[in-house]
Amino acid sequence: MNPARILPLTLSALALFTASASAAPRHGEKWIIGVSQCNLGEPWRVQMNEDIRKAAAAHPEIQLVFKDAQNDTLRQRDQIEEFVDAEVDLLIVSPKEAAPLTPPVAAAFHDGIPVIVLDRKVLGNDFTQFIGADNRRIGKAAGEWAAQKLATLPRVKARGKALIVELTGLMTSTPAQDRLAGFHEAIKGKPVDIVFSADTQWLEPQARTEMESALAVNPDIDLVYAHNDPSAHGAYLAAKAAGREKDIVFVSIDGLPQEGQVYVRQGLLSACFEYPTGGREAVENALRILNGEALPRTVTLNSRFFTPENIAQGGAWLP
Ligand code: FRU
Repeated sequence: MNPARILPLTLSALALFTASASAAPRHGEKWIIGVSQCNLGEPWRVQMNEDIRKAAAAHPEIQLVFKDAQNDTLRQRDQIEEFVDAEVDLLIVSPKEAAPLTPPVAAAFHDGIPVIVLDRKVLGNDFTQFIGADNRRIGKAAGEWAAQKLATLPRVKARGKALIVELTGLMTSTPAQDRLAGFHEAIKGKPVDIVFSADTQWLEPQARTEMESALAVNPDIDLVYAHNDPSAHGAYLAAKAAGREKDIVFVSIDGLPQEGQVYVRQGLLSACFEYPTGGREAVENALRILNGEALPRTVTLNSRFFTPENIAQGGAWLP
């Protein structure tokens, strides 16, 4: 432990034993909340920071400090350590990858800093709270939707089997693992083959390149299951360039109002499953933790799904 931190730790430990009302910001008047964001290259993460900012604007007693790791795990680890050295009052971390970011998150937590892990998970339980939607459930709902949809397509009926391309997110991050597992669980035993699968690392350009490869070796593709909206868009552009976009059903996850929901309205996506950012919930729970409330270790957010049929009504909640 950093020796400079012994005093504040002792004080915060004492605060726990006295009334929570005695809990006070470590520096000055405001609670300083460090936000470690794994990247801001993707619209979904820009939205998360925006949701955090918006929620905090209603609470003048909070001061936010954002750091952007630019999709670099080592940089994110360093930035978490910088927040610990700066003795922030609380940390919100949206980690790039589970395993390598577990030690710095655990170190911050054991150093007496409450940590909210948002969206992607770390390993173990050394944090204060995890907030995120249930990616396995979302993947399963996407798989069930896909199997049903495919069963209605004449070309699939004629062939007796549907052919799917799966474009996964970064497989060292937990949402990709869970979105894959849920989808595979749903299609198990169904007349469906995954003919091509690739890790796009959540990125549109990678998805486009992978889809070009998929199209080159598979003359028939019925459906693309993309783990996020940018990957679906990249795959769509590759199919369009090959003149095959009309033969393929595209399904994805994220469903931002300015991204996936627009693609559904434009007819580019046939279904899109919402993955809420949790930014507002993170700020609200941060304040409750700072005020001494004991909260559950996990908060699971609900998701909707959007199709051309339900988008005008704001989508529908997952079954
Ligand atoms: C953005 C993103 C989202 C995805 C989430 C999963 O970085 O790839 O598109 O839903 O991360 O953690």
